[in-house]
Amino acid sequence: MASMKRVPLIAGNWKMNLDHLQAIATVQKLAWTLKDAKHGFGAEGAEVAVFPPFTDLRSVQTLISADKLDLVFGGQDLSEHDSGAYTGEISGAFLAALECTYVLVGHSERRQYHGETDEILGRKVAAALKHGLVPVLCVGETAEDLEAHGPSAVPVAQLTAALAGITGTPNLVIAYEPVWAIGSGQAATPEQAEQVAAKLREALADLLGAEVAEATRILYGGSVKSGNIAAFMREPNVDGALVGGASLDVAEFASISRFQKHVGT
Ligand code: PGA
Repeated sequence: MASMKRVPLIAGNWKMNLDHLQAIATVQKLAWTLKDAKHGFGAEGAEVAVFPPFTDLRSVQTLISADKLDLVFGGQDLSEHDSGAYTGEISGAFLAALECTYVLVGHSERRQYHGETDEILGRKVAAALKHGLVPVLCVGETAEDLEAHGPSAVPVAQLTAALAGITGTPNLVIAYEPVWAIGSGQAATPEQAEQVAAKLREALADLLGAEVAEATRILYGGSVKSGNIAAFMREPNVDGALVGGASLDVAEFASISRFQKHVGT
């Protein structure tokens, strides 16, 4: 079982889905479903986060804060810059002003469709930390990488490159998302996820020390569903999940969020 010190995180990446009106309805329904579940299951423990599109964030913030909902949220990306002539970009300062806790950095779709390199992502991680956001750094290998280099070489190299310039004891989350498992319906096995998560934790210890490695949550992402979450959560180095498609279905996402690690069971 994973360390008791790490609070499990179930994170829903909405990608480019749900406008701000749909976001309000979704968050309301999610909060109610989780509340009911808590009563029914006596459950507590996992932190539940949503990552809506930028245009939804103000609505989500207002709702969560007005109704004191037990949910946190974050942006799906941020600029490496603080402000200025960067048309279409969003500053980490703006996300912080909207009370975002988290921000995704280097999701494979950003790497693939927007040319985000490890160097850029290193600067984005630094920008997130500078603005008091917790970066959720996404790493993962393609099917070709897996064939050529095995399961952990590429994710570890991505992590090492993106964190090269980071010092101190940053509050980070790492999401291991094999590209071949994202949206494919074919998740990694829990053993595969654990193997890579353990290597990522070792790399974190080398880069930032044992304390940061021990405190950092490492999520698995890629075709997570209510039917497979429990097996991932049983692995000692997997501290939660980054959920794409299944996070758009409130009942399914609430059901994923209900799984927790019971240390010693
Ligand atoms: P998926 O996506 O759950 O739809 O596979 C995961 C992700 O891209 O974060």
